[in-house]
Amino acid sequence: MGSVIGYIGDKQAQPILLNCLAKLEYRGCDSCGIAVLGGSIELYKDAVRVKELAKVAPQLGGTMGIGHTRLATHGEPSQVNAHPHLDCHGTIAVVHNGIINNFRELKRQLISEGHNFVSETDTEVIPHLIEKYYRGNLEEAVEAAVRDVEGSYAIVVLRAGEPRLVAARKDSPLIIGIGDRENFIASDVPAILDYTDRVIYLEDGDVGVVTPDSIKIRRDGIEVDREEHKILWSVEEAQKAGYEHFMLKEIHEQPKVIRDTLGEYTQVTEPVVDLAVMRDRGLESMLMLACGTSYHAALIGKYIVEELLRTPVRVEIASEFSYYGQPLAGTAAIVITQSGETADALKAIKRLKGVECRVVAITNVVGSTASRIADQTIYTRAGPEISVAATKSFTAQLMVLYWLAMSYSKADARRLASLLMGLRQLPSKVQQVLDSEDIILECAKYLSRYEDVFFIGRGISFPVALEGALKLKETSYIHAEGYAAGELKHGPFALLGGDTPVIAIVARDNTYEAMLTDIKEVKARGSPVMALAEEGDEAIGELADLVITVPRVDAMFSPVVNVVALQLLAYYTAKQRGCPIDSPRNLAKSVTVE
Ligand code: AGP
Repeated sequence: MGSVIGYIGDKQAQPILLNCLAKLEYRGCDSCGIAVLGGSIELYKDAVRVKELAKVAPQLGGTMGIGHTRLATHGEPSQVNAHPHLDCHGTIAVVHNGIINNFRELKRQLISEGHNFVSETDTEVIPHLIEKYYRGNLEEAVEAAVRDVEGSYAIVVLRAGEPRLVAARKDSPLIIGIGDRENFIASDVPAILDYTDRVIYLEDGDVGVVTPDSIKIRRDGIEVDREEHKILWSVEEAQKAGYEHFMLKEIHEQPKVIRDTLGEYTQVTEPVVDLAVMRDRGLESMLMLACGTSYHAALIGKYIVEELLRTPVRVEIASEFSYYGQPLAGTAAIVITQSGETADALKAIKRLKGVECRVVAITNVVGSTASRIADQTIYTRAGPEISVAATKSFTAQLMVLYWLAMSYSKADARRLASLLMGLRQLPSKVQQVLDSEDIILECAKYLSRYEDVFFIGRGISFPVALEGALKLKETSYIHAEGYAAGELKHGPFALLGGDTPVIAIVARDNTYEAMLTDIKEVKARGSPVMALAEEGDEAIGELADLVITVPRVDAMFSPVVNVVALQLLAYYTAKQRGCPIDSPRNLAKSVTVE
């Protein structure tokens, strides 16, 4: 994610920019930088956190400037890839939050027109585009530049000799903070709350022209009005965008995360990973490795890849992998790790590489160790995940696995077309689940009084049961177990009874009838049943004590809607029990020890 900031007023810009950036670090910060306009543009940036930058940055004189915290998407965290980025003559500086999907061809075009590039970033095309279109009016040049850009952006532009800042947004948040003889531009409210509580929210397609005493908003070159809002939140509340916990905020970000992750990959023309090469080499099997929630994503990946590529997939717990026999040389392996720093996952990668296996990492953090030691990396676009309980990163991992399998699928064109349509509808289907929060809250109130719970599912819903149990365990401290429904009769039946509810994930696929039978058998042993079932499923209503309905989707996508419902169930159950939801006891967001 990362964030942008701009200041223009009558005070020295540097300390204000650094203070605002510090308030935005929660949006991710693996590098940062500022640029200040005095006589000319002076810039300082590095792959450090804001506090460090504030300590080492030279004094940059001037009362207008821009700043940025970066969470790398294209190009590792480094001094040269950090923002702001400049044009050829160092007269235009730009900070950007978002992803430019067509940057490769824009860069090729600009290089052919004589522009020199220094970084690996997508962002650097923007100052060069503005330079290309500049004819004496900065906002017109910015409007022309963003017309060429495909993707998401919140940008702030500074140009030597121009007593104004220009900002523009599409699909990334951007606000203007209104001060007295000074104004602010920022990715989010927390940045400016020390200076003002009066803000204007820019809308997609808006271009803001800001001077110390004026703010103009343009749309398609015409001036428009935007409402001023008064902010009543504290900085901490604002960082959570008004949600009580980061976990709930991150659960609600999933429709956007799905769009961002799919948006990134459905644009890519050259194969990102050489699955095609593997397939053409007659790939006998594939190996997936991960830990915790990422392991559950891999288990779901198995069902997807086996159905679409008709290639057997072995899924292993990374921490167990080092005790297995030597992997076959040339095995194709996918290692999934949100943080990219999980010690067990890194150890597995090193072991695989030790025997010349090709390793593809799926990770959420650019520049993480996994992305550096794997042969190839696919990034999820979940943005920074603060809450220890992984939620949006899991959904983003599934999107990558769907995209991979569909890109190299052996399924017929009709099936692929319907899956593609289903994938595109997922953001709105997930939104429907989020909109049914109240029903889930009622179920959570019921569940919160129990200490032992089973989650059951069959087929692609079995790993969903595992993930539901993990979320409930780590947030509410209830002892929950996920089980393949058919396994209950081989032991766990002994634990059933009135004090042990069973949560059944009932997808409308080839496991449906068997799940109905499983529910009857569980009920017969006295356990209350809460079922997750597709809207319109009357049979379940007659069997289960409580039902959470999810929207109708293709069976292959049922894990997405079901897991989001289970994330909410875990969140509200933990809330009922007064648990420290974002930082549960004994757990860390990234487990860097074996
Ligand atoms: C999930 O909510 C947990 N935080 C944990 O199980 C996590 O998934 C596991 O530690 C793996 O982390 P990674 O994806 O960063 O490698």
